[in-house]
Amino acid sequence: MEIKDWAIRILSGDTLEEKLLCPDSLEDHEPGHAVFWKEPARPLGMQFCKFSKKDKLPPFVEHEKEEKRAICLHRFAGHELLAVEMMAYVLLAFPEAPKHFRKGVANTLMEEQTHVKLYANRLKELGIELSSLPFFRNFWSYIPHVTSPLRYISLMSLTFEMANLDFAPLYGESFAKVGDEKSAALMGKILHDELKHVSFGWNWLKKFKPENQTEWQTWTSSLPEKITPRRAAGPVFFAENRKKAGLPEEWIRRLAL
Ligand SMILES: [Fe+2]
Ligand SMILES: [Fe+2]
Repeated sequence: MEIKDWAIRILSGDTLEEKLLCPDSLEDHEPGHAVFWKEPARPLGMQFCKFSKKDKLPPFVEHEKEEKRAICLHRFAGHELLAVEMMAYVLLAFPEAPKHFRKGVANTLMEEQTHVKLYANRLKELGIELSSLPFFRNFWSYIPHVTSPLRYISLMSLTFEMANLDFAPLYGESFAKVGDEKSAALMGKILHDELKHVSFGWNWLKKFKPENQTEWQTWTSSLPEKITPRRAAGPVFFAENRKKAGLPEEWIRRLAL
């Protein structure tokens, strides 16, 4: 299947099967012309809801309760699905991006699909269907800003996914602490893959950056106005995960601030 056709099926699909469609082989001979997808179709019960205060994630002290952990896992599943759709958007919007970049985005997208499945399976074990809790627009609201591959890696890989290098282990530790080893192991798997996704962003930042700028300057100037470097970190900073993702010491120091 052509990457372009696959991305269209993901964005227009209104079943979970279409969102998670993973062809045996992918080709990129006909990337087509640029298409800027407005809004992803969503399965029934999984459309974007308006976010309000009551939708804030339960605090860590409530993780002892299974239903509270389920709310967290469901929110993360929502983020994974948004990542799938954003990556499909990028594959349609930037047909002229380097082939190697497109291949990398496609591979990452497949891993995000796996993450959706893993969360959905864990939720099922906890007796929760994906459609039983609300989904939010979140990352998708930044799509108008994603006007180049550089802006995409700056926002997605080096900010949202980078922050998950803190959130994933933090939630993993908390789930383990209350004896939910299965959910903790799931967070471990997510962290393992996220390290690769951040690494992907870092490697392409080095390639996309203009010669007269530093990586830091290019990254910060490629972010939407409302997004500061602070968004690339969680409430606890795991420097060693940035190191594993291949970030230089100087960046880690600046991010830690
Ligand atoms: Fe993911
Ligand atoms: Fe990711």
